[in-house]
Amino acid sequence: MASTATCFSRPFVLLFIFFFVFVLASLASAQLSPTFYSSSCPLALTTIKTAVTAAVALDRRMGASLLRLHFHDCFVQGCDGSVLLDDTSTFTGEKTALPNNNSLRGFGVVDTIKSLVEVLCPQTVSCADILAVAARDSVVALGGPSWTVQLGRRDSTTASLSAANSDLPSPFSSLSALISSFSNKGLTASEMVALSGAHTIGLARCTLFRNRIYNETNIDSSFATSLQANCPTSGGDDNLAPLDTSTRNIFDNFYYKNLVSQKGLLHSDQELFNGGSADSQVNSYSSNSASFFSDFASAVVKMGSISPLTGSSGEIRTNCRQVN
Ligand code: HEM
Ligand SMILES: *[C@@H]1O[C@H](CO)[C@@H](O)[C@H](O)[C@H]1NC(C)=O
Ligand SMILES: *[C@@H]1O[C@H](CO)[C@@H](O)[C@H](O)[C@H]1NC(C)=O
Repeated sequence: MASTATCFSRPFVLLFIFFFVFVLASLASAQLSPTFYSSSCPLALTTIKTAVTAAVALDRRMGASLLRLHFHDCFVQGCDGSVLLDDTSTFTGEKTALPNNNSLRGFGVVDTIKSLVEVLCPQTVSCADILAVAARDSVVALGGPSWTVQLGRRDSTTASLSAANSDLPSPFSSLSALISSFSNKGLTASEMVALSGAHTIGLARCTLFRNRIYNETNIDSSFATSLQANCPTSGGDDNLAPLDTSTRNIFDNFYYKNLVSQKGLLHSDQELFNGGSADSQVNSYSSNSASFFSDFASAVVKMGSISPLTGSSGEIRTNCRQVN
């Protein structure tokens, strides 16, 4: 009798254990899902895409600025919308951090999108998710790859100026410092190289590449000279130059082609192709845009999963600039 019962129950016990472990695992690993808003706000994704496409049509650089907002959000406290919070007399946000001050843009576009989705579905779509979707739609609008965006992030009620200053990589970093700053966020050296391809779009300020164009030797000399006119040795700190000198408004693999010809704008860019461990990956992306696109898409999805607030943590802000 007892042995019969054991024979029958063993598979059921095993099944039960597997099911239980599965349920626990899915509860424990903060779950994001592509269908998070399918029933709560079915028009959210198309609304965001329409707004991003319109904003990028008016100002191509906006695609770059929105992509960068998602990066600067995710690297500071995780992807929680903390980058969007304004300073007030009683609250210190991240906007005046060294990498962000007079540099981040696109906040008005995020406000417009937030107002639209608040009308459609009040207090449902987080600011952090808006950034993740806007980043994808921006890349697509500029000719880059698409990917499925994981959703369900919630918004922080806090921000960290000090983490924004310490956790975002510097344009003066060495290759090993870049690798460490990404590895601190759970991203590999290879993902760092793929994510850096975001510099195929957008602009940078003279103050951040001046030393490179006057003092560095691993730079194409006519490229350096051509940049000096608009970036004198003193003054013109805020003058802009494209990160990808070849195709500034197109999301393609020319960033890597430039690196191979020593035309990286930032010191940190050229570090990826300077005789070190990233050279072979840069070479490969420079001649194979499909592999760059595919690796970039996977790496952005991974970056987008850095420490999200889920479940009942955090909140859904009604205004991305302030906590509720
Ligand atoms: C690898 C380490 C990185 C460093 C050191 C770095 C540094 C910088 C710097 C210094 C600028 C110019 C800022 C200014 O002129 O005020 C910039 C611009 C930009 N960065 Fe990065 N970045 C890195 C990685 C990334 C990643 C991972 C992304 C996105 C996935 C990204 C997206 C952008 C974009 C799109 C712009 C142009 C923004 C615009 O024109 O508004 N960067 N970055
Ligand atoms: C941020 O930029 C403003 C100028 O727009 C400047 O007055 C302020 O000192 C800067 N803040 C920091 C912390 O660098
Ligand atoms: C070039 O390097 C020297 C020595 O570090 C420095 O003093 C100078 O300011 C640099 N020049 C530019 C234009 O950055």
